[in-house]
Amino acid sequence: MIRINDNYTKLKASYLFADIARRVTAFVAEHPDKPVIRLGIGDVTEPLPPVCIAALHAATDEMAHRETFRGYGPEQGYAFLREAIAQHDFQALGAPIEPEEVFVSDGSKCDVANIQELFAADLRLAIPDPVYPVYVDTNVMAGRTGANTDGRYPGLIYLDSTAANGYVPAPPAEAADLVYLCFPNNPTGAVATRAQLAAWVAYARQHGAILLFDAAYESFIRTPGIPRSIYEIEGAREVAIEFRSYSKLAGFTGLRCAYTVIPKSLQARDAAGNLHSVHALWNRRHTTKFNGVSYPVQKAAASVYTPEGRAQTRALTDFYLGNARLIREALAGLGFSCIGGDNAPYIWADVRRDSWEFFDLLLQRAQVVCTPGAGFGRCGEGHIRISAFNSRANVETALARLAAALR
Ligand code: MLT
Repeated sequence: MIRINDNYTKLKASYLFADIARRVTAFVAEHPDKPVIRLGIGDVTEPLPPVCIAALHAATDEMAHRETFRGYGPEQGYAFLREAIAQHDFQALGAPIEPEEVFVSDGSKCDVANIQELFAADLRLAIPDPVYPVYVDTNVMAGRTGANTDGRYPGLIYLDSTAANGYVPAPPAEAADLVYLCFPNNPTGAVATRAQLAAWVAYARQHGAILLFDAAYESFIRTPGIPRSIYEIEGAREVAIEFRSYSKLAGFTGLRCAYTVIPKSLQARDAAGNLHSVHALWNRRHTTKFNGVSYPVQKAAASVYTPEGRAQTRALTDFYLGNARLIREALAGLGFSCIGGDNAPYIWADVRRDSWEFFDLLLQRAQVVCTPGAGFGRCGEGHIRISAFNSRANVETALARLAAALR
């Protein structure tokens, strides 16, 4: 009989958010009279900005006429979107990124999951803990780790993110080849300063490493001076790949559009020591495995960069940050120490007990869904993540229920 990829047997039985969804579905089936409020997975609830809706309608109309109909687009994305991205998301910050260095895709989850396949199987990987589970699981699937022992995989360098380091790990003493970083952070909501990011760029340059910088939550940064892109740091063009998404910026979780930046100056070696352009490798992969994001969706993404789009997406992210502030204040009022919520849509609370037990308690007593910190790694134990993505009414009801349940 055919053999499976044995690396899959090293994974935890199910993906974190699938596990949570199963528990919530079981609860709802048992208690159909108790409406549940979901502050677990970071899925948006508010409708798309009007400017995106108008762009979708207009592009759909174009598809209805022979003269303006479009079939396959460029795999890397239409020039109108790549140019807008390079100009507004990077050059406007003084970050030297060109349109040809942008690869438009249908989601950052797929991009951060797939990027590892460009690199050798025996890499030394550094991964924060707690962390978005996709970074770890995709490397387990690719065979870069041993079997899970005590919640950790041998073969990974774990970067503990705890209250002691303000949830921003410093570069480790040992050399890693590939380093995953996410700021503003999922799950903790922590942000990294320019000096902290500069230390990572210096580390990568020293060790010939590549930083995989996930900036999916960049649009929530409000504190002046916090870098929005790794390319704001001098020297990053030679050592970093950045991932961005329209999911949280413009409510595209159901529409699907994101992009990855790979500077043409980023290089890596083959087994014989020859240098290769990582941009060229990803382009090769992208053109082989991907046929591009649909034209109407790319038009909707491009509309985000118009003055109306800027104002509407700002209002949207401000709205979720308003929820985040309410959540953080309520949790602090209940005596939990928290971070996040000021430059990120997630609040990370130290609940001082088993995180799955606390998850169950909130579900049973308050019918509120959170994400147990242990699901993000060993350092997440004792914590929960609460997402600010919901309506104001639901957030207020959830907080009132929480207060009643925990009093
Ligand atoms: C999360 O809740 O961590 C995110 O929604 C997951 C994702 O963006 O895939």
